[in-house]
Amino acid sequence: MKKLIDKLEKETVLSKDEYKYLIENFTPELSEYLFEKSREVRHKYYGHDIYIRGLIEFTNFCKNDCLYCGIRCSNRNVQRYRLTEEDILSCCKNGHELGFRTFVLQGGEDPYFTCERMTGLIQKIKHSFPECALTLSVGEKSTEEYQAYFDAGADRYLLRHETANDCHYRMIHPESMSPENRKRCLYDLKRIGFQTGCGFMVGSPFQTAENLAEDMLFIKELQPQMVGIGPFIPQHDTPFADKKSGTLELTLFMLGLLRLTLPNVLLPSTTALGTIHPKGRELGILAGANVVMPNLSPVAVRNKYLLYDNKICTGDEAAECKNCMQLRMRSIGYNVVVSRGDYKEKCTTEENHNEI
Ligand code: SAM
Ligand code: FES
Repeated sequence: MKKLIDKLEKETVLSKDEYKYLIENFTPELSEYLFEKSREVRHKYYGHDIYIRGLIEFTNFCKNDCLYCGIRCSNRNVQRYRLTEEDILSCCKNGHELGFRTFVLQGGEDPYFTCERMTGLIQKIKHSFPECALTLSVGEKSTEEYQAYFDAGADRYLLRHETANDCHYRMIHPESMSPENRKRCLYDLKRIGFQTGCGFMVGSPFQTAENLAEDMLFIKELQPQMVGIGPFIPQHDTPFADKKSGTLELTLFMLGLLRLTLPNVLLPSTTALGTIHPKGRELGILAGANVVMPNLSPVAVRNKYLLYDNKICTGDEAAECKNCMQLRMRSIGYNVVVSRGDYKEKCTTEENHNEI
């Protein structure tokens, strides 16, 4: 199996059967072998820098009904909220003072945020913080709407493809959603010029090793600048309440494979990973990730954006989250830096010494 890892390192892609074989048969020893290589590649592009993104969960209203998601529209036990423009700008201001240079606006697909409201908001944020990057994560929109967001100044867009396998996609989404549209959105976003992120949950219900291998090939074809993955974690008010969480070991192994498949990709070590294991985010970095996304949302709404059970950091102020993250990263020899943290096209050994 080490030979397959060596081949992936050299050729940056494997066949579907080879990925599947690794995913089905990996051992702790093989994982260590993979992580040594994935860290080496990560250091080649990004040194020991950790890019930090300020996550603003600005609305938990959603018109969709994804079967795995705690804020799906048919969950009547969610107290719904949406932040005002002033709230959002004040989160950005707070984040900016703390050293954040990327803001991520994430929310459900909330019809209140029309194209006009979104573009107005994007322009205000970019006008107030011109040196900062703005990432959006607000779901599936029309080509025209994505173009309008881009023209208004948004830099990046995160839209996990969730699963590249169409049958699997239909098993975890309502009939109103289609894998074709999800993929159409991703290709639109790339063509328009966004730094684009796709991704998937590890261990989502009905997922097979073959599905994960298909995810790797889809990602290789799309060539996104970012890939967001984290373990699936059940939420008690969803149809998947009784399903098992994805495992730490498989999530880390997938992070390692992703780093070798897309050497310069921006790869977050996610909150979900930190939720299933106390050192999950540190281990994610040691498996090849290079981005963390602490929360900047006001504490008053933190416990209402609950996609899954036992989410961490729901009671902390932004400053506490940032400090905690900085200490965690230092403890494993990495530095959280003040930077927009853009995707690097080319390999550079230069590190950013502007630690937060
Ligand atoms: N509405 C936007 C979208 O669809 O891209 C952004 C918000 S959505 C809640 C963000 C991501 O959360 C999803 O892409 C999904 O992968 C993840 N997610 C939702 N429910 C989850 C769960 N139970 N466990 C882990 N991740 C989950
Ligand atoms: Fe819309 Fe989860 S169902 S954000």
